[in-house]
Parts: sequence; C-alpha cells; structure tokens
Amino acid sequence: MSALATAGLLAAAGVLSLAGTAEAATTLGASAAAKGRYFGTAVAANHLGESAYASTLDTEFTMVTPENEMKWDAVEASRNSFNFGSADQIVSHAQGKGMKLRGHTLVWHSQLPGWVSGLGATDLRSAMNNHINQVMAHYKGKIYAWDVVNEAFQDGSSGARRSSPFQDKLGNGFIEEAFRTARAADSGAKLCYNDYNTDGQNAKSNAVYAMVKDFKQRGVPIDCVGFQSHFNSNSPVPSDYQANLQRFADLGVDVQITELDIEGSGSAQAASYTKVVNACLAVTRCNGITVWGIPDKYSWRSSGTPLLFDDNYGKKPAYTAVLAALGGTGDGGGDPGTGGACTATYTRTNTWGDRFNGQVTVKAGSSAISTWTVPVTVTSPQKIATTWNGTPSWDGSGNVMTMKPNGNGSLAAGASTSFGFTVMTNGNTSAPTIGACTTS
Ligand code: G3I
Repeated sequence: MSALATAGLLAAAGVLSLAGTAEAATTLGASAAAKGRYFGTAVAANHLGESAYASTLDTEFTMVTPENEMKWDAVEASRNSFNFGSADQIVSHAQGKGMKLRGHTLVWHSQLPGWVSGLGATDLRSAMNNHINQVMAHYKGKIYAWDVVNEAFQDGSSGARRSSPFQDKLGNGFIEEAFRTARAADSGAKLCYNDYNTDGQNAKSNAVYAMVKDFKQRGVPIDCVGFQSHFNSNSPVPSDYQANLQRFADLGVDVQITELDIEGSGSAQAASYTKVVNACLAVTRCNGITVWGIPDKYSWRSSGTPLLFDDNYGKKPAYTAVLAALGGTGDGGGDPGTGGACTATYTRTNTWGDRFNGQVTVKAGSSAISTWTVPVTVTSPQKIATTWNGTPSWDGSGNVMTMKPNGNGSLAAGASTSFGFTVMTNGNTSAPTIGACTTS
C-alpha cells in the first residue's frame, strides 16, 4: 500500500498522525533521535505560512523554541492581560507534528514591557509570580523545558548578577523564587537556567555553576542549564566546551544547547558545528541541540550567515557536517541491510485522561530485511506502561525503549508491521520521539 493510501486510511479512521517519523537517519531530527537526543530550532510564527520554511521545519526538526512569541512583551504587554495568539500558533504546529517544545522565556531583563520596570518591589514580586503562573498554566503539560530565568549574570570577570528590575528590586533571591514558583505551576516541565558566554569555563559560567550547585544542595528546583552557544570569530567554540557541559551535568542537572548559531561559511563553519555536536553527544546528560533559526535570512544576525540552511533552504556544508556528526547518512536511505533500509512512522491511536496509545509502523525499504529495531523515547515523568507486538528493552532511566520484533522480524521489500505501547502521561501529553529504524 502506498504511503498516501495508508495516510488516507488513517485519516478515514480518525487517527491523528504525528510526525515522529524517522525516514532512516537522513534528517537532523531522526539522526539525533537515534542517539537519544532531540534536534530543535527557534521558530518565528510569522514564517510558518512560508511553505519551504514549514516543510524544512517539519522534515528536519523534533523540537521547537518560539523565538520571540513567549517573551514577556509578547504575552503580557499590559499587566495581567495575556495574549497567547502567536505563541499558540507555534505550539499547535509543533504538537501537531509531534515535536517537543521549549518555553522561552519567563523572567528576562530584555523584551520586558515598561510597566514591569516601573513597579516597586512588592508589586514586582507579585507580577513576576503571576506571569510565571499564568504562562505556565496556559501551556501546562505541553512544554518539555522552560527557560525560567534567562541571562541573569553579567559578562566579564566580575561573576556578578546583571542589573535588571528583578535583580535591583528583589535581590539575588529572585532567581530562586522564580524556580520555586515555576515548579509549583507545572511540575512536568524541566526547569532551566539559560545564558550566553557561559559555554566555556570563565568567570560568568563559574558564577552560574556556583548558583546551580547551591540550588542543588538546598533543594531549589532546577533541572537543567541551557547554553545558548552564539559563536563567531570573536567568540569561537571554546576548547573546553565539552568539559564545561560535563561539569554542569556532574552537578546533577541536564544540559542543553539552546540557541546555537556560528557565524561563518564553508568548511570552517562546518568544523565548528561538528565540535558542538560531538561535545553534546559525549555528555550523557546533554539532551539535545537547538539552532537559532532555519535559513540564514531569518537569523537575528543574518549577515553572519550563522545557520545550517541558506536563504533558499539549501543545505550548507554545516548541515552536512552536523548530520554526519549525528551519525546520519544523508544519502537518502543508507545501504540495505546495514541500516536505513526501514522506516518507522508514529501515530497516536487512542487518548484517555491519563494515558495515550502510540503505534509505530515499521516498513521495509526497497529490499527485504531480516530484522529491525526502533528506539522510542518518552519524556519524564511519562512512563511506558505496556507494549504489544514487540520485545522491548530499556535504558537505565526507563525513558528510552528499544523495540525489537517478536520472533522472526523479516519483512519483504515494502512490507510493514506495527507495534504499540501505552504512555502514562503523568501530566505531560507530548509525543514520544521515535528514533531511526535500523536493520541488522
Ligand atoms: O516584530 C517587530 C516588527 O513588527 C517591527 O517592525 C520591527 C522593528 O524593529 O521589530 C520587530 O520585532 C523584532 C523581533 O526581534 C522580531 O523580529 C524586535 O525589534 C527585535 O528586537 C527582536 O529581536 C530578537 C532578540 O532576541 C531581542 O532581544 C530576536 O528576534 C531574537 O532572535 C533574539 O533572541 C535572543 C534570545 O531570546 C535570548 N538569547 C539571545 C538571542 C539572540 O539575541
């Protein structure tokens, strides 16, 4: 049966088809998923109507960060009057395609409406907590990770906090208060501190490190640290990038590369991207990489051509290097029998209040295959409760299931089979990440 006919049948049966589709390891998202990671991008709502933008997004990426649409000035321009229109557009697009979402950002000195800066301490504290509560409640259960506090430290050698209305009026304690409020608002989202110029070991990252260490020791709820990773020739990928990610991970938090872009072109740019990908892959608690935009033309610093796609959505050498570093093939399917000879397509088949059923269809390519495996990753606190039509094995966290066939897994060329599983949502309804189908 053709893919179209299958899609038609699924549609007729009222089955919602989500992307989580892994077309061998020929895309950034599928190759990252095969390594148990996501590959994301910043998205601007006003570009979603451009078909090349949307199709590149849908094909290549498994995580989305709204570039500006969830910031304070966008969602609460006037006090206690919330407007989620543009952000909701991005969220529903991402959810419809089974992508994870990063919430960016709750408490930040920039893109902060004037009314916030004008408040006195008591009012500011209640406005900050109200903002966190309202925004997180609106997106409860839909967000993989929130940048709870963004860029609260100064650049340079002081290691001091940056001056901001929050810092100046509420003091150092505002960061802790924001994280405590955030945990109470949505206990299913990872709560992150996010910053730039913290990518190597330096005075600024040392100050963030000390804060995270203190939070972990005192039980202040923090789950992750985001490393923005905006690089150029003045600020290249630091030689201790991996070591820096690792020292944070060793504090007991996840680490994520949240806004990656590297100015430049050609093989030099490609080599820098490779360093970043290899560093993340080498750190077990590095969950994934997000680039700060799709084509160069929409970058916040477009003249530096810092992204993976050119203005016509052509794949740059940096793209090819990232795909290769992720273990992808980029050759449209790989060698039959050595991986890439099957595909895995995810569909949600049933939903209840506390759980949903997922089904993965495994399809052989143009050659027969003798067996297959497909990794399925769910987001804590989600748990896979039951499975059928396959033999699962699990990683230590219990969040990554590798499914193999029951008995003989041979499939004739073009033939398919399915396995299923029930996910207990525990408050998080996001779709699982389906890794690449591999043959062996
Ligand atoms: O949408 C308006 C448009 O209507 C208006 O005509 C135009 C005129 O200035 O402005 C447009 O808004 C701009 C917005 O981007 C959307 O393009 C803002 O002026 C501009 O300030 C805003 O810049 C954003 C910047 O954050 C603001 O600080 C960038 O897009 C965004 O990529 C950038 O992202 C930040 C992260 O949030 C935090 N880390 C650093 C990163 C890069 O600066």
